[in-house]
Amino acid sequence: MSFRIQPAAPARPNRCQLFGPGSRPAIFEKMAASAADVINLDLEDSVAPSDKDSARANVITALNTVDWGKKYVSVRINGLDTPYWYRDVVDLLEQGGARLDQIMIPKVGCAADVYAVDALVSAIEAATGRKSPISFEVIIESAAGLSHVEEIAASSPRLQAMSLGAADFAASMGMQTTGIGGTQENYYMLHQGQKHWSDPWHWAQTAIVAACRTHGVLPVDGPFGDFSDDEGFVAQARRSATLGMVGKWAIHPKQIALANDVFTPSDAQVSEAREILAAMELAKANGEGATVYKGRLVDIASIKQAEVIVAQSELIAGS
Ligand code: COA
Ligand code: MG
Repeated sequence: MSFRIQPAAPARPNRCQLFGPGSRPAIFEKMAASAADVINLDLEDSVAPSDKDSARANVITALNTVDWGKKYVSVRINGLDTPYWYRDVVDLLEQGGARLDQIMIPKVGCAADVYAVDALVSAIEAATGRKSPISFEVIIESAAGLSHVEEIAASSPRLQAMSLGAADFAASMGMQTTGIGGTQENYYMLHQGQKHWSDPWHWAQTAIVAACRTHGVLPVDGPFGDFSDDEGFVAQARRSATLGMVGKWAIHPKQIALANDVFTPSDAQVSEAREILAAMELAKANGEGATVYKGRLVDIASIKQAEVIVAQSELIAGS
């Protein structure tokens, strides 16, 4: 029980975050022309160590020259355990210009990681007279990150989004898999000799959603590595949406439409939500807190559930 009102997450669509390596400038214009809500230009693990400096320069040029339209533009810096991250922050903040909206911090393990980047960003913003503050997103992709997920969600007013990074997370946890998200062959229950597959990412996702919703941060599902498996991507995305996540990464352009479709409430979902709201208006007029909709109970909590769907749909329609 709490008398505090749960803070709202930032009101911007975040259905799909399209990634592209900073070392591959030929795709930047294609990324800008895509249907993704968020662009993640990567300086971290899709860029080889020998390309770190040139990738950073490519990204800075692209921030200043490409027409990013209404996209929310984010750059993934290198982790705090590397020699690259401080230069990423300094150069992006000093040279990236106004079009840089967000910095993504990978492999965050505790709130102090975010504090460190915040201190550096704040100093550079003050020194350069930047008008709009840079926002942060973080990736939870280690045992420490998940253990400290709640303090990380509360770490900075700059923090807008938090993703689960399945590959590094699996490695850090010692999980026996090389898959990046989705169904894992050996994670099953046996019932009367039949295998039933469970979702090994479920608990991490739920922990992330709870921490995010407590602190007004957007919870996002990370990468699905097998980009030839559309059905697998959609199944993973639907589970994430059902658990409260607002979007998913695309690591190949073919995943963008799939993510947008799953994370945009369907017409059927929206009209059902509106019907529930109408049924509850009628109940309220009759002095009742609960009523029956299509043979099932709806009550005052159902209003909040329906409002989540309507609000998400209006946010996307208005974007
Ligand atoms: N964004 C925009 N366009 C992209 C793209 C991306 N991330 N990846 C590929 N494309 C373009 C290609 O240039 C090609 O365009 P064309 O039809 O004009 O020639 C088209 O989409 C089809 O590409 P395809 O040949 O199927 O893929 P590829 O072999 O060129 O690249 C990957 C495949 C996975 C290497 C590439 O998609 C990629 O680098 N993804 C992002 C990886 C990343 O950032 N990882 C870090 C986060 S986990
Ligand atoms: Mg990672």
